Amino acid sequence: MGSRGVMRGALGANVPSSTAAAAAVAVAFVCLWWCSAVSASVSYDSRALIVNGQRRILISGSIHYPRSTPEMWPDLIQKAKDGGLDVIQTYVFWNGHEPSPGKYYFEERYDLVRFIKLVQQAGLYVHLRIGPYVCAEWNFGGFPVWLKYIPGINFRTDNGPFKAQMQRFTTKIVNMMKAERLFESQGGPIILSQIENEYGPEEWEIGAPGRAYTKWAAQMAVGLKTGVPWVMCKQDDAPDPVINTCNGFYCDYFSPNKAYKPKMWTEAWTGWYTEFGGAVPVRPAEDMAFSVARFIQKGGSFINYYMYHGGTNFGRTAGGPFIATSYDYDAPLDEYGLLNQPKWGHLKDLHRAIKLCEPALVSGDPGVMPLGNYQEAHVFKSKSGACAAFLANYNPRSYAKVSFANMHYDLPPWSISILPDCKNTVYNTARVGSQSAQMKMSPVVGGFSWQSYNEETASYDDSTFTTVGLLEQINVTRDVSDYLWYTTDVKIDPSEGFLKNGHYPVLTVMSAGHTLNVFINGQLSGTAYGSLENPKLTFSSAVNLRAGINTISLLSVAVGLPNVGPHFETWNAGVLGPVSLSGLNEGRRDLSWQKWSYKVGLQGEGLSLNTLSGTSSVEWAEVSLAAQRQPLTWYKTTFNAPAGNGPLALDMGAMGKGQVWINGQSIGRHWPAYTAKGNCNDCNYAGTYTEKKCLKYCGLPSQRWYHVPQSWLKPTGNLLVVFEELGGSSNWISFVKKEIESVCADIYEWQPNLLSWEKQASGKANRPLRPKAHLSCAPGQKISSIKFASFGTPEGACGSFREGSCHAHKSYDAFEKNCIGQNSCSVAVAPEVFGGDPCPNVMKKLSVEAICS
Ligand code: GAL
Repeated sequence: MGSRGVMRGALGANVPSSTAAAAAVAVAFVCLWWCSAVSASVSYDSRALIVNGQRRILISGSIHYPRSTPEMWPDLIQKAKDGGLDVIQTYVFWNGHEPSPGKYYFEERYDLVRFIKLVQQAGLYVHLRIGPYVCAEWNFGGFPVWLKYIPGINFRTDNGPFKAQMQRFTTKIVNMMKAERLFESQGGPIILSQIENEYGPEEWEIGAPGRAYTKWAAQMAVGLKTGVPWVMCKQDDAPDPVINTCNGFYCDYFSPNKAYKPKMWTEAWTGWYTEFGGAVPVRPAEDMAFSVARFIQKGGSFINYYMYHGGTNFGRTAGGPFIATSYDYDAPLDEYGLLNQPKWGHLKDLHRAIKLCEPALVSGDPGVMPLGNYQEAHVFKSKSGACAAFLANYNPRSYAKVSFANMHYDLPPWSISILPDCKNTVYNTARVGSQSAQMKMSPVVGGFSWQSYNEETASYDDSTFTTVGLLEQINVTRDVSDYLWYTTDVKIDPSEGFLKNGHYPVLTVMSAGHTLNVFINGQLSGTAYGSLENPKLTFSSAVNLRAGINTISLLSVAVGLPNVGPHFETWNAGVLGPVSLSGLNEGRRDLSWQKWSYKVGLQGEGLSLNTLSGTSSVEWAEVSLAAQRQPLTWYKTTFNAPAGNGPLALDMGAMGKGQVWINGQSIGRHWPAYTAKGNCNDCNYAGTYTEKKCLKYCGLPSQRWYHVPQSWLKPTGNLLVVFEELGGSSNWISFVKKEIESVCADIYEWQPNLLSWEKQASGKANRPLRPKAHLSCAPGQKISSIKFASFGTPEGACGSFREGSCHAHKSYDAFEKNCIGQNSCSVAVAPEVFGGDPCPNVMKKLSVEAICS
């Protein structure tokens, strides 16, 4: 709501600002009783959501509250508002709120009410996706693991025990929101809710019980009488009055299931998640903007960026399995809450352009006219005379010159121009006016002195139990730990041939996932792991057995529980067998059905070695610089907080796999040893985007840096604990800060320009203004040098610009003069600024890169 049309009333109710503003002032004195008697409302029609009597074009963004800290929330929300958002969308994370049945938790990162109230204070709306199934690459899709063990339960279908639990939790959340008066119908910020999540594809697989469940879920939700509409995403048969909505990289093709429902896009994917072993996906800002403009021009009225801030899967909250700890998502706000430029700025400009069109957009359906083979105009006209046009070029390869209403327009490939007055282009999705930034990870503190403690291989304690055969992992651990030891003894007769000929027997272990470390008589013999695509694994390797009794210890490690797929709750993990030894005198010996001992979790977990009080329970050894890389090792050190309050990360590049804690708070799983597969070719914004199209970090760790929230640090004496499974080198662990290295602008001479249009429209400028290159370092930084500047036909991208055949010889001058020593500066993109036109009749642009320090 940040922008136009509605303002927050004295009692938190929303009052239309335009015509009703005067009336609102007039009743201000009687407002105390009047405002609370009138209930604000949200409804919808075919065109849009209607908030307090006004159709709204709403821009929303997902920020999942547990993926950042409460200390970060106000800044994230403010940056979302500055980026032109009206709405913040979040899921509700059931397993975070009800860790054991009936025991609720709404503190710290799970303080849902506090989060919503912060959004309200910022003057934004909320879209609350209660689910309670959420998917979201979140452990078990948001379901508490105990839910699986309710007798007779079957998730997400027409199943009594499941429906009872789902209804109970949904009602709990709705009542909590009502008690805090958070629905818009009560004067609060929540304008929309969601029940279930992308159930359509599941229903299709399940058939009749799925359809019955959909009906039940809709009725149950509507029966909770929130006073605001419900949506079901990816659910073509969403029953009235629930609105079915679209999720995807593009949604312009989508229509709701009834003509009287608005066209809404609940997940516009801004990038994609990272999996351990995968490369990191990025989505170009130009294509993101193109997809949104395309949706709006086809009559869409609600867009939610999934994610606007992705954040971090702290602790063991990542799902998958194999979802990385970073949930950056290439979102407009990066994992650390910094602006991801140019995406944040380019979308901000898009939102302003769309808002300028809002009066025309909300007043009717678009007229569409072809402008060429791949070109179209979408025109919106209101009765009161407002006119807005979107000119689209769908051709991914070539520019188009089109004429529209007797004027000529140049449309870059795969782009849409926005004309809020049906005349002047103020924005084109492929012309990025905002700056881009190169970020760097600068070391701030390192060289810690470490102490270590070696985890025992399958220690025995009270919790150890023995049984015949192999057990499924989650049934045993109930997910209280990633770790489960499977231990058995193998007797080797002194007459075994391999003891003489040295051809050791081969141990083969079949596991349902997710990773496996094999120890023979306490020595690591090898590891194996699956992937998101196929979590299963087979370990097969010769093992060093001796005559007599040998202990085989298998440490099976879960890397997040599945969050999506038909009945994902039934998917197995752990060593289900067979487990066998081959190459013995007898041939193959099956170990699957002998006695196995089980121990849940690590010894160090049981002793809470990750906490200050727990560390004193064992003897730690000094780690020398030449230390051997031991598997299954706990490391600890203390450190003082690095200076400054910018975002911090741990550089875990030299480590293998495990978990990290700071002052007892879990930073998450680290796994830099899993390097990224994939093809990181150049990425062209034009053409249909998929999550495989634009990748980075191929051949490098999928995740090297791990976010450490500032608020988890004390000035001095912080405890850092690392558990390392494979054997990394703790001596190389250091803190880095993420900061801007350089900023760039890349702007065409005649680029559409919002600012100049607004100046002209308001009569403040009497001639067309040239676009400007704006450069701005982070607060506290200054521009120290101009690394590159060229007005002409420069090539390349930020970080790797190079001169083209045409280059104005005074390209650097204006920047040297106006920018050096400044935090930010602007330079007009016009020939006279750079010493004259270097190549008349050629389309020119300016590319500039400035170093921030
Ligand atoms: C959607 C789902 C989201 C998230 C997304 C991928 O299908 O609704 O929760 O999982 O995919 O990031």
